[in-house]
Parts: sequence; structure tokens; C-alpha cells
Amino acid sequence: MKSILFCYTMVLSVVTYNNVIHKKYRLTLLYIKNESVKRANGGIFMRRKVIAGNWKMNMLPDETIKYIEELSKLVGETQNEVILCVPFTDLFYALLTAQNTNIKIGAQNMHFEEKGAYTGEVSAKMLKSINVEYVIIGHSERRHYFNETDESVNKKIKAAFANGLKPIVCVGETLEQREAGKTAEVITKQTELALEGLTQEQVENTIIAYEPIWAIGTGKTATSEDANNSIKDIRKKIAEIYGQNVADSVIIQYGGSVKSKNAKELFTMSDIDGGLVGGASLDPEEFSKIVNFDKEA
Ligand code: PGA
Repeated sequence: MKSILFCYTMVLSVVTYNNVIHKKYRLTLLYIKNESVKRANGGIFMRRKVIAGNWKMNMLPDETIKYIEELSKLVGETQNEVILCVPFTDLFYALLTAQNTNIKIGAQNMHFEEKGAYTGEVSAKMLKSINVEYVIIGHSERRHYFNETDESVNKKIKAAFANGLKPIVCVGETLEQREAGKTAEVITKQTELALEGLTQEQVENTIIAYEPIWAIGTGKTATSEDANNSIKDIRKKIAEIYGQNVADSVIIQYGGSVKSKNAKELFTMSDIDGGLVGGASLDPEEFSKIVNFDKEA
């Protein structure tokens, strides 16, 4: 396995070049696809479904290679967008193995400064330099364990866009806030502060993940109606600030104990545009069933 890893590293420079070409091609295809979906629906924009795996602090490079080789065979036919957000140490290997597949690669965090004396941190520019496409920002575990604030989340989103990365921004309420009837207030405020100062185009290109904190890793899922209503609240807030067109086109995912068993019910709701999947994304077969939710009987 060591020699395989070595070879992978050696061909990285070729890949960096290829990725740029490949990405332009994929973006063109995505544009054509979006335009045709728009036309096919009489000018009404149908949002695509985006399913992102969040591996958190799991998986080594050899496991990453094996996983992506397996997953790519299982999701090759999907029209849904597939993203894997992997640990920093897996990014090279993930990018390389995902070449010429429909799997996109993201990081799970970044610093808002471009460079400097920030021991242990990785910047957006660094991620972009190896062709990472997405980055999760403001996950509740980062807010909780690493003191991330709405302000730092906002700075990170701006830095992500400034460097050509697409942010997946997490918002969500605690159980206490939910029980106090404050869900809508909390998540719309988090959204407003996260997006503050962004252009309409940037907001359109932000993916928001609504993740009720009490549902993350607990096996408890919000009911599809509750999740859909919360996402509608977020969309309404975006419409108030950035206009209805932006609100109608922004992708808003649900996250929190998504599994193959509940994916279809959640992802077919009117306002839920896919999911951010933690635990269930660690197994390629289970994750592929979530991605292929619209193909299951
Ligand atoms: P979970 O995690 O699917 O394991 O609940 C979701 C997340 O934290 O993004």
C-alpha cells in the first residue's frame, strides 16, 4: 500500500493540470444541464439535489482510495451532485482517485486568513492550490469544540469565495433552543450573519446545511415536515435580504442522522435539496444508497 501511496503522490502534478481542464468541462456540462432543467420546467428553476458526505475525523489515505474506487462504481449513473468532505490528510488521495468520476471533493474547515503565524491552520488558498472544490464552514462541532462564532464563519465564507472555493455553511439549533420555541429565530439569525456582506451571486453559490444539533450523530432525525419548515424559514429570510430569485435557487440541505432508510422521505420534500451526511457516509454502500435515493424502489 505504501508504494501505491507514493505513486499517487508522484503523479499529483499531472493531476493538478488535468483537474483544471476536467473541471472546466464539468462546469460547462452542469451549466447546460441546469439550463435544460430550467427550460424543461417552463422557466421555473428546479434546484438540483446535492448529497455531501462529512467523514469528520475518520479514514486514512489507503481507506480513502479504496472507498472512492468503490463509491464511484455505485454512483456513476446519478444526476445528483456527490461531494465527499474528507480530512486534510486524505485530500490529495481523494482528489486523485476521484479524477474522471462524478465525485467532488471538499475539506471540512479552513482559516480565513490567507497565510501567516497560525500554527496548525490551513487556508482557502492552500486548499484551492490542490484543486479542492468545496469546504464545510461553521459545522456545529467546530462552533462547539473550537469556539467558532458567526463572525468567524462569515469571514471564512468570504475567504472561501475570494479563493474560488464553494462553501457548505452549517446552521442549526440546540435541543434547548428548540424546546424554547426558538428554532426559527436561531437558524435565520445564523444564516443572516453567515451571509452578511456577500453578493447575490455568492449567496446563490453557497450551500446551506440545516443541521439541528440534537439530531447529529444521535440517531434522532427531525421529521421531514419539521426539517422542511425550518428550511422554508431559512429560504424566507434569504428572500427578504437577497430577493426571491436568490432564495429560490440557493441549495439548502438537511443534516442530522440521515440514513438510506430516511433519505428518500427527507430529500423529496419541497425545500430540502439533499443532505449533509456524517456517520452514514463512512460506508460506501450505505452512502451510495443515500445518493441514489431517487432510484430506490
Ligand atoms: P450525522 O452527522 O449524519 O452522523 O448525524 C451529520 C453531520 O454532522 O454533518
